[in-house]
Amino acid sequence: MRVFTVTNQKGGVGKTALALHLALAGQEQGLRVLLIDLDTQGNAGITLTGDPGLAKCDGGAGDLFAGDGVQPLTTPSGIALLHGHQKLDAVDANFKLVDAVPVREAIRVLPYDLVVIDTPPAIGLRQVGPMVWCDLCLTPLEPNGYSVVGLSQTLEILSAARQLNPLLHSRTIINRHIRRSKRQKQYIEQIAARVELTQPYLCLHVAVADALDSGVPVWRFGRAARDTKEQWRAICGGLLGAPVAD
Ligand SMILES: Nc1ncnc2c1ncn2[C@@H]1O[C@H](COP(=O)(O)OP(=O)(O)O)[C@@H](O)[C@H]1O
Ligand SMILES: [Mg+2]
Repeated sequence: MRVFTVTNQKGGVGKTALALHLALAGQEQGLRVLLIDLDTQGNAGITLTGDPGLAKCDGGAGDLFAGDGVQPLTTPSGIALLHGHQKLDAVDANFKLVDAVPVREAIRVLPYDLVVIDTPPAIGLRQVGPMVWCDLCLTPLEPNGYSVVGLSQTLEILSAARQLNPLLHSRTIINRHIRRSKRQKQYIEQIAARVELTQPYLCLHVAVADALDSGVPVWRFGRAARDTKEQWRAICGGLLGAPVAD
């Protein structure tokens, strides 16, 4: 089993988009995939099920912390889901990092090849816990001034998580890239001075949002440009260690 978490304390940078694309890519490759959605907004689960009411239902990812086992939903794509919902805020309030450590083993015994964890845009147990459970932590960034500041915080949290999970790997991914933007270029240079950036960068393209609204990865979305499809296939294939078919 491989466990990936997608993290960034800032919202709107593409955490959920990346988590969904990775899960869909793994599914296409024939892997048994579980998506764990730790965000109260429940967007990843809503996309996978098409059920906008899902974030009002208890259980799902919250059960990971209760210690009585989990009951993933099977979504139409075949991806199993521990959905996110409004009551997940209580996890940050009620549990400490030490409580989250056993969850790692609870996940590892589940019958999946790939587990992708989507996290909320806030520093807290639901962000740090998955860093302790996972093999690979992915940080999508939009190149701007906030992300330069946010990156320092993320790197600090990652180094704290490595105390409990010494084998933790991490990757930083540029998303919402605008090729002709000189400002973005400057921010990317600043970010690249701190961390190695995974290639290729993912361009800002409305087809990404439109594809997810239709419940498909952008490489299966007819209206997406070829470049965009190739970028997302390259990123997901690179992270999964196997190509995503055309
Ligand atoms: N490369 C991109 N181009 C265009 N829209 C994108 C891209 N990446 C993400 N989005 C869209 O931007 C919005 C915010 O992304 P999301 O993945 O929900 O961010 P987060 O989970 O970090 O809050 C969503 O509507 C998503 O579909
Ligand atoms: Mg999100």
